[in-house]
Amino acid sequence: MKTAHPHQPIERNIAMELVRVTEAAAMAAARYLGRGDKKLVDEAAVTAMRYTLGYVRMDGVVVIGEGEKDQAPMLYIGERIGDGSDLQVDIAVDPIDGTTLVARGLPGAISTVALADRGTMHCPNEFAYMNKIVTGVEAKDCIDINASVAENLKNIAKAKKKNVSELTVVVLDRPRHEQLISDIRSAGARVKLISDGDISASIEAALPEREIDVLMGIGGTTEGVIAAAAIHCIGGSIQCKAWPRDDKERNTAITAGIDINKVYNTDDLIDSDDVFFAATGVSSGELLKGVRYFSGGAQTQSLAMRCRSGTVRWIDAWHNFDRLDKLSFSKVH
Ligand code: FBP
Repeated sequence: MKTAHPHQPIERNIAMELVRVTEAAAMAAARYLGRGDKKLVDEAAVTAMRYTLGYVRMDGVVVIGEGEKDQAPMLYIGERIGDGSDLQVDIAVDPIDGTTLVARGLPGAISTVALADRGTMHCPNEFAYMNKIVTGVEAKDCIDINASVAENLKNIAKAKKKNVSELTVVVLDRPRHEQLISDIRSAGARVKLISDGDISASIEAALPEREIDVLMGIGGTTEGVIAAAAIHCIGGSIQCKAWPRDDKERNTAITAGIDINKVYNTDDLIDSDDVFFAATGVSSGELLKGVRYFSGGAQTQSLAMRCRSGTVRWIDAWHNFDRLDKLSFSKVH
């Protein structure tokens, strides 16, 4: 456990409060499932998230928001949120990871929030994308993003007491991953391609006893840091490296003195043990069930995690809209 920021540990399990935030965002966004409009999905989630975060007892600053990659509606970096109470924290939000999935009615979209004490979340946001490798606790010390795919898979399989042919590697289905997919297949491992949503795939890779053993490939930088918060709680490991999209991005970073070959480990992204993470399913996937509406309410499934305790909770909730409407903090659904 890290002690880089000596302070009183945060005793409250804020993840339990953050679950209400991701539930609200998921319920608001899920109304637009399959309606073909990404902007409506994002707007609904952002509005619900901003509103409900306002009731959390904290002095929060958004350090990781979204929007730059695709001009989506966003919670702005630097935005102050919370009810202004004394607890100073950093917040990372991805109101919807998998906006396209929701717009198209496809599985696997989630709403997420991560929180850590002030000044401890680091997002290399000079780059929109990073190359990532994620695995769970058994193989956490065996991954090396600079090593070959075959080498990584051999070491992970050994640590997990499996054959390489028994490993499943999840990869975003993108043309940029053609060589990676070919390398994984040549190494003899199973490949699972996903169309979007590498936060939930990273969590799957880090959790024990799931179908997925490893995540590999290039995805969003903000998604990498939010995934790192969850992985830090679970006890697995993520390594990332900048993936400049073009020479312009590469040269701008080099001119600004940024080391584009730096390897970011979990604790380079989140330098604290006071880390909390919550996610709620929007459309049903491997990790979480999506929002289901019933007359007068909805059912949700969420994850709440706290790093210090290492507790990972799956929370099923039934929401009664009539009663929620009478509560000031719960008017968003
Ligand atoms: P959004 O919901 O913000 O669109 O992100 C979905 C996602 O699949 C992420 O999970 C992933 O990190 C990123 O997009 C990959 O980016 P791209 O779709 O540009 O390859």
